[in-house]
Amino acid sequence: DTSRPPLAYVKGIPLIKYFAEALGSLQDFQARPDDLLISTYPKSGTTWVSEILDMIYQGGDLQKCRRASILIRVPFLEFKAPGVPTGLEALKDTPAPRLIKTHLPLALLPQTLLDQKVKVVYVARNAKDVAVSFYHFYRMAKVHPDPGTWDCFLEKFMAGEVSYGSWYQHVREWWELSHTHPVLYLFYEDMKENPKREIQKILKFLGRSLPEETVDLIVQQTSFKEMKKNSMANYSTIPADIMDHSISAFMRKGITGDWKSTFTVAQNERFDADYAAKMEGCGLSFRTEL
Ligand code: PPS
Repeated sequence: DTSRPPLAYVKGIPLIKYFAEALGSLQDFQARPDDLLISTYPKSGTTWVSEILDMIYQGGDLQKCRRASILIRVPFLEFKAPGVPTGLEALKDTPAPRLIKTHLPLALLPQTLLDQKVKVVYVARNAKDVAVSFYHFYRMAKVHPDPGTWDCFLEKFMAGEVSYGSWYQHVREWWELSHTHPVLYLFYEDMKENPKREIQKILKFLGRSLPEETVDLIVQQTSFKEMKKNSMANYSTIPADIMDHSISAFMRKGITGDWKSTFTVAQNERFDADYAAKMEGCGLSFRTEL
């Protein structure tokens, strides 16, 4: 497919070509101490936690949370695509306190976010489910190169030769940052297991509180089933030449353990051996069996 641009490398990190272009203009970006940064490696629960945070910020007001698409409510810092406002443009119209999404590894993160001690909610998801979700996302989001076969994509994922580079490096370096910077480090698998508990962790981290019935409403409204139907959260407002939901829906399955229906036994063994070497000694553990 010739309309799919190849990845562009910035400081050795592969990025979607348009996002690599947008990075230059981020020099104009000024973080505020009351910003809240949502950071994730792609396909780890970004949209889910973004919707949760907007609902918290709007006090559970459903009408207010339907005011605009998720890309406007939670501007995506490095975002750029033909015919859609950039992340920086969306930020210009965003009143404080702002929610901001990024997938950038630390080497590319604007220093102002660290200087301003901006609080970070980081969500990590197990590598196998991320790889599967990313593969389907590559197929439908045509700003990516063609993923090729699943086997070929998995090799690229393990080598860090996919958009945003290495999953292993990303989850490790943001975990290390959490020792010196205000980062709430969450796991997708924990959010699936007990979303209410994880929302309460977020509230505590933000120093906010909400009535219990509002927390219950947020749990219910941010379920996969509800978000899949919600045009302001499911990316259906993005032009089809950028995201083609007829190939694979953005809200695809929303489960843990889907990798089991995709990985072959041989792929799984190879992945596990490589994983053990890359993740040794990092102190992070993921649950893949839920
Ligand atoms: S992106 O493009 O990186 O911002 O994507 P991201 O939102 O991080 O990840 C998309 C995957 O998250 C699933 N998803 C959810 N799971 C559970 N509950 C809710 N509410 C929810 N919303 C999105 C989405 O379905 C993608 O995972 P897969 O495995 O592909 O279904």
